[in-house]
Amino acid sequence: MNMVAASPADTGATGPATQLRINGARLWQSLMDLAQIGATPKGGVCRLALTELDRQGRDLFVQWAREAGCTVRIDAIGNIFARRAGRNNALPPVMTGSHIDTQPTGGKFDGNYGVMAGLEVVRCLNEAGIETEAPIEVSVWTNEEGSRFVPVMMGSGVFAGAFTLEHALAQRDAQGISVGEALAAIGYAGQASPTPPVSAYFEAHIEQGPVLEANDCVIGVVQGALGQRWYDVVLQGMEAHAGPTPMALRRDALLAASELVGEINRIALDRPPHARSTVGSMEVFPNSRNVIPGRVSMSVDLRAADDAVLMDMDAALRQACARVAAAGKLTIEVRQVVYFPPQPFAPELVEGIRSGAAALGLASMDVISGAGHDAVYLAQLAPTAMVFVPCADGISHNEIEDAQPAHLEAGCNVLLQAMLSSAGVSA
Ligand code: GLV
Ligand code: MN
Ligand code: MN
Repeated sequence: MNMVAASPADTGATGPATQLRINGARLWQSLMDLAQIGATPKGGVCRLALTELDRQGRDLFVQWAREAGCTVRIDAIGNIFARRAGRNNALPPVMTGSHIDTQPTGGKFDGNYGVMAGLEVVRCLNEAGIETEAPIEVSVWTNEEGSRFVPVMMGSGVFAGAFTLEHALAQRDAQGISVGEALAAIGYAGQASPTPPVSAYFEAHIEQGPVLEANDCVIGVVQGALGQRWYDVVLQGMEAHAGPTPMALRRDALLAASELVGEINRIALDRPPHARSTVGSMEVFPNSRNVIPGRVSMSVDLRAADDAVLMDMDAALRQACARVAAAGKLTIEVRQVVYFPPQPFAPELVEGIRSGAAALGLASMDVISGAGHDAVYLAQLAPTAMVFVPCADGISHNEIEDAQPAHLEAGCNVLLQAMLSSAGVSA
């Protein structure tokens, strides 16, 4: 897939609106206030999807959105839509958003930045008394992280029709609680309704990688995102006594899993530069010091910029599993639980981000997102683009995740201009 595409810029917004700047201090303060909910001792945030802490974060967003004059709608998978009316409310909204659920060892910015940046755009337009032609909506997507519940990017996936509402509601966490039950428990199970049209979708996000910082760029013009395949893999050997059982007679599932982790790592190493392969979680049964492990369950996460490469990685995974199973005299079951192809973003909007950054005097460069984002599913519905800003040392999904206020402000200004350009500004 060619993710690099360009077309002439359509800057749309003219006059006083192009002079408009968001309030960086207010944006920063909102991020810091939201980060209090689920704050961890190391300065990060643990606010897993559909927990009591997620409810508190959602409630705070809804309160702020209402104070900013927005009407708020919740859909059946718990996505929140805060709408600022336009002059012509028959037009589909120009939407921006992201997520406020985090990883268990998450930071203050992943997802939260995109939501707070959207809110800041609304506050800024209110303060300047600017009416857009089309309405503007700020969305908070349910369970983007895919940490407590799989699939990842759940709320935007349902919104885009990538999988059904029923499928999403039926998924269970490690404790056996379903998405439907968790949504009801926090009071965010809204009404099922057909997906409304969206005229354009923008998402601001920290880069979560090191490229912008290394190149001294404030703005990443995102060409698209890597495709992903996630799997649940179960290795079944046999439990036996750690003492009397000779080495040659063992069917050790953890030993086999360890070999498989190395093979999986090589799958991406063999396919540079964009392929990624990760084993992020593992459960060992019975997890007892003097029992040879009989069963291991583990996750596999494969990513690539080209769908054919991702398919080839799938084949390599299955071959590696067959090899390790034969050598270890055990069975290995591979179940795919997530798939979405690489997703290029809309060339005209991407070009708008690039020219918007240039108009603001900000150094920018083209990047590809290694992370999944709600924008990936929104791109299946509407022209979509993303704005990246640097994060310290490229570190994310970590409590030490950090970003500079000036960079967050700059990204939000680019977002503002792009949204004004798409929504149109009344004379
Ligand atoms: C989402 O955070 C991802 O795993 O890319
Ligand atoms: Mn994110
Ligand atoms: Mn994330």
